[in-house]
Amino acid sequence: MIVFYITGTSSGIGKALAKQALQIEDSIVYGFSRSCSIENSRYKHTTIDLSKVDETLNINLENHSDAYKVVLINNAGIIGDVKPIGKQNNESIVKVFNLNTICPAILSNKFIQIYNEENISKIIVNISSGAARHSIESWAPYCASKAAIDMFSQVQQAENDYDSKGLKIFSIAPGIVDTNMQQHVRSTKPQDFPHLEKFIGYKTKGQLTSAESVAAKILEVIDKPERHQNVLLDVRQL
Ligand SMILES: NC(=O)c1ccc[n+]([C@@H]2O[C@H](COP(=O)([O-])OP(=O)(O)OC[C@H]3O[C@@H](n4cnc5c(N)ncnc54)[C@H](OP(=O)(O)O)[C@@H]3O)[C@@H](O)[C@H]2O)c1
Repeated sequence: MIVFYITGTSSGIGKALAKQALQIEDSIVYGFSRSCSIENSRYKHTTIDLSKVDETLNINLENHSDAYKVVLINNAGIIGDVKPIGKQNNESIVKVFNLNTICPAILSNKFIQIYNEENISKIIVNISSGAARHSIESWAPYCASKAAIDMFSQVQQAENDYDSKGLKIFSIAPGIVDTNMQQHVRSTKPQDFPHLEKFIGYKTKGQLTSAESVAAKILEVIDKPERHQNVLLDVRQL
């Protein structure tokens, strides 16, 4: 049995990941988001607001010591207000960091606590962003929250290499993907976002990748983690 814990499974990349993971024989998928859009007897949904730290702290990951592989995919993420600092809503800043950084950190901690001693393959994939590695005006909390998860992933992999617990960690930038998040970016005001025309152009010129093709690439990494030495990956280079 292969067990997946995936956050943000109601739409976009997370939904595509969950649906493709369910096509693997003997898989169980635990999904977490505020709404549910997948029906499958091997899919177990938790309705939860992961931007609320108390709710994330209450998550109990089940121990599946009979599994041959356990996988945590920290995918849920938001961009928040697309505005320069000074015009951002403070609540939005808190939510962005809670969902994009604090939640993956807590779930990684819980995952290691449960599975560290189990002699099974363990993989954590954090869905990062090109914005973690290149600054984009009006996305400061988003860029910083994803940069934090890149560094968190690298430290966690270094700890594991030191301790030899058979864990692989990746922080993967998915590219520019045709999801609700891109729709949100395109709906912002030109005076708040200097790159608005460029992002509208990605859609009108058909340059967005599909969530399904991105999910397939990420699942290939999970299937053959030994092929990848770097923690930081980019789907466009896989
Ligand atoms: N699309 C892109 O171009 C792109 C580029 C780089 C990185 N990414 C990253 O890819 C990941 C997936 O995003 P996406 O593009 O697939 O966007 P999406 O379609 O908007 O999906 C976001 C998912 O996160 C969940 N979510 C949002 N807020 C939540 C909350 N408070 N609590 C629990 N779940 C929550 C949503 O479910 P509910 O609304 O039902 O809660 C949804 O399932 C994100 O981490 C994003 O930063 C995307």
